[in-house]
Amino acid sequence: EQKDKSDLLRAHELSQTLFHYILKNTAHGKIALEYLNNRGFSLKLMNQFQIGYAPSMRNTLTEFLHKRDFLLPLMEQGGLLSKAGQQQYVDRFRDRIIFPITNARGKVIAFAGRALGDGQPKYLNSPETILFNKSKTLYNFYQAKTEIRRTGRIVLFEGYADVIKAWSAGVLNGVATMGTAVTGEHATTLKRYADQIILCFDGDEAGQTAAIKNLSILEKMKFQVYVAMLPDQMDPDEYITAHGSDRFKKEIVDNAVTATKYKMLYLRKEFRLNDANERLRYIRSTLKIIAELESPTEREHYLKEITNDFDYSFESLKQEMFEIRQEAE
Ligand code: UTP
Ligand code: MN
Ligand code: MN
Ligand code: MN
Ligand code: MN
Repeated sequence: EQKDKSDLLRAHELSQTLFHYILKNTAHGKIALEYLNNRGFSLKLMNQFQIGYAPSMRNTLTEFLHKRDFLLPLMEQGGLLSKAGQQQYVDRFRDRIIFPITNARGKVIAFAGRALGDGQPKYLNSPETILFNKSKTLYNFYQAKTEIRRTGRIVLFEGYADVIKAWSAGVLNGVATMGTAVTGEHATTLKRYADQIILCFDGDEAGQTAAIKNLSILEKMKFQVYVAMLPDQMDPDEYITAHGSDRFKKEIVDNAVTATKYKMLYLRKEFRLNDANERLRYIRSTLKIIAELESPTEREHYLKEITNDFDYSFESLKQEMFEIRQEAE
């Protein structure tokens, strides 16, 4: 087991070096390199994140690992190769951009492979292995740790490309999950480094819903949670490409709203607010969110916001919230 782990770690390290070399220095990597250039990934960024390319041939990595005496069945269990019949192995990643995924100590434990065009799946990730547990792993955590500790703040993205592009924009405390929800294990790790977290998810419906879903676990873990809002149909990577680093930091990250404010805004979409009845139902749902807040000053703060946004008196809003709190007891 221990030997298997160290062999696999070594194999991942060598594979990463190979993929990175192929991308930068060979004819096979040319189209991938153009693809990355077109997406605004500089050479410096490719080096920083050790981005690579797995060529389209069936057994580039298989041959490479075989020549170095790695056991191919172990390499298959480790997610580097796929089975192609009895005792037959082929490269798992073919014709894909490779993003190495490291553990908290900076060791490569998995890869994410992105199709160059519209190929499916868009991202092919390593399977769970003795090295790689998705519910514990955070992309870029190793590199972001220092800045997370320094600022006391984490920026959580949906995707690898968002983390990388944000890094180039000067946001050095960005991490991402493996395309899954935040787990208790993720939250526990992060809590050791910072108390504030900004969710910076895609502006589409899926991203905004994912933000709502991730709020509860983070709030339970006593993070101060903020949500950054992107224009519809844009993700952070696209926003930075379209509007630049300064606007991303000033207008998106610095304008992140509190979790409570975000829930109130998110709810608005479910009601037609110019209809008096629906508006009242919206207010009532919002008061339920506010009623759950522990701090009286916080409750007052958000009650005042509704007072300002809608034409109801502070007193009646407070009274109704009070009743909701009593019903909940
Ligand atoms: P997105 O579809 O938003 O991709 O999925 P993206 O990050 O913007 O990628 P680009 O910019 O098109 O290259 C968000 C995340 O969900 C996971 C990945 O972690 C991805 O970064 N995902 C998505 C997968 O694991 N597999 C997929 O096929 C798609
Ligand atoms: Mn703390
Ligand atoms: Mn998305
Ligand atoms: Mn996206
Ligand atoms: Mn994207």
